[in-house]
Amino acid sequence: MKAVFVGGSSGIGLAAARLAEAAGWDVVIVSRNPDVPDIDAERVTLDISDETAVREVFSALGPIDHLIFSPVARAGGPARTLDLEAARRAFETKLWGPFAAVQAADVRESIVFVSGVAAATPMRGGSATAAVNGAVEALMRTLAVELAPVRVNAVSPGIVATPTWDFMAAEDRDAMLDRFAGALPVGRVGTAEELAAAVWLLLTNGFITGTVLPVDGGHRLASP
Ligand SMILES: NC(=O)c1ccc[n+]([C@@H]2O[C@H](COP(=O)([O-])OP(=O)(O)OC[C@H]3O[C@@H](n4cnc5c(N)ncnc54)[C@H](OP(=O)(O)O)[C@@H]3O)[C@@H](O)[C@H]2O)c1
Repeated sequence: MKAVFVGGSSGIGLAAARLAEAAGWDVVIVSRNPDVPDIDAERVTLDISDETAVREVFSALGPIDHLIFSPVARAGGPARTLDLEAARRAFETKLWGPFAAVQAADVRESIVFVSGVAAATPMRGGSATAAVNGAVEALMRTLAVELAPVRVNAVSPGIVATPTWDFMAAEDRDAMLDRFAGALPVGRVGTAEELAAAVWLLLTNGFITGTVLPVDGGHRLASP
């Protein structure tokens, strides 16, 4: 099996790539800086928001069994004052770039998108995140119909402790993660490995398609 992980150099994507490596699959890690240590993988340097480069890379990759998308671009803040350029970048990175990749790629088995709980549960400051993740999930369902028998699914994470939060000062980040942990039904935030296990389920269960799988510790129910 050949699996291409866009956003596979960190967090959820890297944890999922490690499961594929352990299963003996051929792993390709695609990101702007894919030089992660300790994984037996081909590495491709690509900014997924660069449509021309995306088409070149995916045309050259040849047949792929599985394609996984977990890139992220941050665009938080109150809707009234949100930086719309940042919001557009989030859409270029998480929606339009992967859309172009799907057009250019020759996928044989399945595609998994990583969306996010904001699409289901409103959070103050999360309007752009909600919009892009909702768009990803809507795209996923239509692709599941259009690209069949290729299966297309999404995992929707809640708050997960990954390097994605490292832009915050350590103290602020830990306080934020603790606050979410206390408000969640499971009493803690998630791990990259827990999300990777869900990605792996969607990659390997041949009877699941068109599904959003929430892995969020109950976040969508509790609206912390
Ligand atoms: N962690 C959470 O709490 C959480 C919550 C809800 C949803 N999610 C979603 O889960 C997914 C994975 O998140 P994570 O926490 O694993 O994030 P992460 O650790 O920050 O990893 C993000 C990955 O995306 C890659 N990436 C970013 N911009 C890119 C670009 N323009 N082109 C190509 N690759 C790019 C990064 O690599 P380079 O920097 O090398 O490009 C990295 O490999 C994201 O879609 C995120 O929105 C996460």
